[in-house]
Amino acid sequence: MIVEPKVRGFICTTAHPEGCAASVNHQIAYVKNQGTLEGPKNVLIIGASTGYGLATRIVSMAGCSANTLGVFYERESNGKKTATAGWYNTAAFEVAATDAGLYASSINGDAFSHEIKEQAIEKIKKEMGKIDLVVYSLAAPRRIDPDTGEKYGSVLKPIGQSYTNKSIDVMQGQITEATIEPATTEEIENTIKVMGGEDWELWIKKLLEADVLAEGVRTIAYSYIGPDITLAMYREGTIGKAKEHLEHTAKDLTALLKDLEGVAYVTVAKALVTQASAAIPIVPLYIGALYKVMKAKGTHEGCIEQIYRLFKDFLYADEVKTDEEGRIRTDDYEMEADVQHDAIALFDQVTTDTLQQVLDIQSYQDEFFKLFGFGFDEVDYEQDVEVKVDIPSIEL
Ligand code: NAI
Repeated sequence: MIVEPKVRGFICTTAHPEGCAASVNHQIAYVKNQGTLEGPKNVLIIGASTGYGLATRIVSMAGCSANTLGVFYERESNGKKTATAGWYNTAAFEVAATDAGLYASSINGDAFSHEIKEQAIEKIKKEMGKIDLVVYSLAAPRRIDPDTGEKYGSVLKPIGQSYTNKSIDVMQGQITEATIEPATTEEIENTIKVMGGEDWELWIKKLLEADVLAEGVRTIAYSYIGPDITLAMYREGTIGKAKEHLEHTAKDLTALLKDLEGVAYVTVAKALVTQASAAIPIVPLYIGALYKVMKAKGTHEGCIEQIYRLFKDFLYADEVKTDEEGRIRTDDYEMEADVQHDAIALFDQVTTDTLQQVLDIQSYQDEFFKLFGFGFDEVDYEQDVEVKVDIPSIEL
C-alpha cells in the first residue's frame, strides 16, 4: 500500500511503518551519540509507544542497556488500514533492542484494567526479575474504573469561568479564537480520575504486593505547568487539577516504597508536539512560539533530548535536583524568563497573515507529521509498503 497522511481534526489517521521506524532509529542514534549513562537495568514503561514514554524506553535501552517491558494501547493493521504510529514505533524498537542483545517485550491493552497489570506482573516474574524503574506516561481520554466498571472521560476546560484566547488551526494555517466553557464539578472529578495519580498508585501497589520491585526502585510520572497564557486552560483548569493529584500521589508513593528505599518523582516536562498536546486548545499556538524562540536560543529539545537530560542531569545524577515541591524540572529551559517573554510576545503578535514568518508554523506541521512517520528523508513515500507489521513479542 502507498501510505499518505490523512488528517482529521488534530489527529492523523494513518501512519507510515518505515517512517515510524526511522523516527525510532533517529532517537536511538541520538542517545548513542550522547554516550552511555548510569541508570536503570529493568524498566517497566506504562504508555511506552509514543511521546515521552517511548523516549524514556529508548533512553533506558540505548543509553543504559536496560531490559524493558512496554505497556500501551495501540491498533494493529488489518491489512487495509495502517496500524497506529505507536504500533510501528514499538515494532521498530523491539527489533533494535533485540539486535543490541537486550530483552524487550510489550503488552497492548488497557493499562487501567486489572488484567493488563496482572499480565505485566506475570511477564516480569517469568522473564525479567525485579524492576528498578517504573515510568508512568499515560495520556488517555477516558478510563474505565477496574472495580466498578464505571466510565470516566477527561476534558480540557477552565474552572470557574469561560476562557477565551487566540488559538490555531495548525493544518489550515489559521489563527482562530477559542472560547472554552468552564467545567462542571463532575467533569473536574472525572478528569482527575483519568489523568490523576489513582491508576499510578494502583500499579505501584500491585507491583509491590507481587514483590517485583527492586531495592531502591524509582518511579516517575510526567506533569506540566507552562506559561501564564495557558494557565486558565491548563494548570488551573481540569487537567491541572489532575496533575496536582498526580504530584500528591508521588509523595504517597514515596511513603509506600519506604521499605525498599524507593522514591517516586513527578517530572515537570517541556511542552512538545505530541499526539496528546495537539488535542489541547491554545497550547499548540504557544508551542509554535516556544519552538521558534528556543530554536533561536539553541535550547530547543524534543522528547528524546528532554528524557536523556532527565536521566543524566536529574534522575540518575549524584544528587536528584528538585524544586521546593519535590518535582524534577526538565521544563527549566522553557521557563527561563527571557524565553517566556519572547514566546509570549510572538504569541500576542501573530496573525494568520504573519503565521509563517512569526511562528515558523511549518516546523510545527513537520513535527506533527513526523509523529506519524511522515517527512523522513530516507523513506520513499511513493513506494508500496507492507502495512501489516508484527511486534515480535506480541502474538496476534
Ligand atoms: P502520547 O499521546 O504521545 O502518549 C500516550 C501513551 O499512552 C501512548 O503510549 C498510548 O498508547 C498510551 N495509552 C493511552 N491510553 C492508554 C490505555 N488506556 N492503556 C494503555 N496505554 C494507553 O502522550 P505524551 O505527550 O507523551 O504524554 C505522556 C505524559 O506526559 C502525559 O501525562 C502528559 O500530560 C505528559 N506531558 C506531556 C507534555 C507535552 O507537551 N506533550 C508536556 C509535559 C508533560
